[in-house]
Amino acid sequence: MPTVHYTSHDGTTRTIEGNVGDSVMETAVRNGVDGIVGECGGSLSCATCHVFVDPDQFDELPERSGVEEEMLWGTSEDQQDNSRLSCQIKLTEGMDLRVTTPETQV
Ligand code: FES
Repeated sequence: MPTVHYTSHDGTTRTIEGNVGDSVMETAVRNGVDGIVGECGGSLSCATCHVFVDPDQFDELPERSGVEEEMLWGTSEDQQDNSRLSCQIKLTEGMDLRVTTPETQV
């Protein structure tokens, strides 16, 4: 079962077991994780699901699409090298992913 560790900007971490095929955003919203809004429901049009992926795990994920790259310019907190839109990260079997949520999301 995939696991995601969500750490907020203040250092609080919530660990949630999710379902294969769901996104990191969907898993967060369903479980009331602070700091991820997911306003557009995952249609890649809001950028309110911005997260920072643990740098050690960033290259293990599928690459960002061109549209995701463009949307990352519209996040409320400036993007970093390890920025992703969490609606674009699908949970896979055995995944044990660590992400940090930005201080501001909207
Ligand atoms: S939920 Fe809107 S871009 Fe990810």
